[in-house]
Amino acid sequence: MQNWIEKYRPKKIYEIIEQEEATQKLKNYLEKFPGKKKSVILNGPPGTGKTSLAYALAREADSEIFELNASDLRNKSSMNLKLKPVLEQKSLFEKNKLILVDEVDGISGTDRGGVSELVTLIEESKYPIICTANDCWNQKLSPLRKKCEIIELKEISPSGVKKILNEILKKEKVELNPDLINKISIKSNGDLRSAINDLEAASKIGKIEFVEIDERNKKTDIFKAIRYIFQEIPSEEMLSVFDKVDMPLDEIILWIEENIPKVYSGEELARAYERLGRVDLFKGRIYKQQYWRFLLYENIFLSYGMSEAKGKKGKKGFYKYGKPDRILKIWLNNQKHAKKKTIAEKYAKLTHVGQKRILREWNEIKNILKNPVIQKQVKLDDDEISYLMKY
Ligand SMILES: Nc1ncnc2c1ncn2[C@@H]1O[C@H](COP(=O)(O)OP(=O)(O)O)[C@@H](O)[C@H]1O
Ligand SMILES: [Mg+2]
Repeated sequence: MQNWIEKYRPKKIYEIIEQEEATQKLKNYLEKFPGKKKSVILNGPPGTGKTSLAYALAREADSEIFELNASDLRNKSSMNLKLKPVLEQKSLFEKNKLILVDEVDGISGTDRGGVSELVTLIEESKYPIICTANDCWNQKLSPLRKKCEIIELKEISPSGVKKILNEILKKEKVELNPDLINKISIKSNGDLRSAINDLEAASKIGKIEFVEIDERNKKTDIFKAIRYIFQEIPSEEMLSVFDKVDMPLDEIILWIEENIPKVYSGEELARAYERLGRVDLFKGRIYKQQYWRFLLYENIFLSYGMSEAKGKKGKKGFYKYGKPDRILKIWLNNQKHAKKKTIAEKYAKLTHVGQKRILREWNEIKNILKNPVIQKQVKLDDDEISYLMKY
């Protein structure tokens, strides 16, 4: 079955949203070809419609597209073979032709070979050549830039993303929680491809069969592991328990977060949460400063630390452990950090206290920031305020 990205790729120009300026520029280029610059680069972040725009315009102009990729460019015979129909003399009744070199970033990666081939091709071509790039400002692409008009495509706005997602849901006759749609739209950061992918995944989680198979094997392990941690007497053996679970620590955190409140309460729960918070802190440092040794501590906090939060005892009884709603939780988790960071940034600017210190003393500072007068001074926005009040 076709995935939604392909199924809903815009076929007509009017279906491409928020790229009117780029569309106009590309049209002009095609009409004036060969103008001042012989080729164009559609430059912009992933999932903003570069490839779709090239195809939709070609269709509208009744042109045939010949697509070349990085490896064709490095391989002369493959290139000649693909371009043979293009390079032959155009007959009177034939369609116009267009060459598309998608994602030229790819050729700059390894060597210059491909880039100079492409430049030669542009110089000699009788047909328009459209290149696309995520970032054409790479130094290795500078010879190419000289031959090209650069057309920038912008990230899609959250409301634009939402609009497309809702249209797709309508066509698929699927209903999803509007809150989740909002979250997916914001999280996508203007990348429609990733938004549509997330949407498709989210819509399938509702239809269990599919996800279950893949989760089943993991499930027994992670369920066993957290049961062990939460209910057994803490011991040294626990330190290695997550090594046996086939799941990244980030995801294990979500399982723990989801399930501790079902087993622990009062003091125990507070201690467990406090330790989980420290895992977050370590994670930040690990990524920023690449202190990979800290990964060890992360593991300790999650295994022994979680178990010991209830004291040196076991817990009898049957608890119904559940599975976290992954996409949402991961997103929320990231988002939580994102908000904390923007708040810390603003607070740092105002008080000249270092951001790191703010994050370290977050609990105190959070309380200070609950004061509306201070919120105003720090210029927190509504989202940041609601985050502060929630956590
Ligand atoms: N501007 C846009 N308008 C409508 N849909 C878009 C737009 N940009 C991307 N999409 C959606 O995202 C998918 C990927 O787009 P694509 O053109 O391949 O992005 P890019 O080449 O910029 O990475 C498309 O199939 C389409 O569903
Ligand atoms: Mg593309």
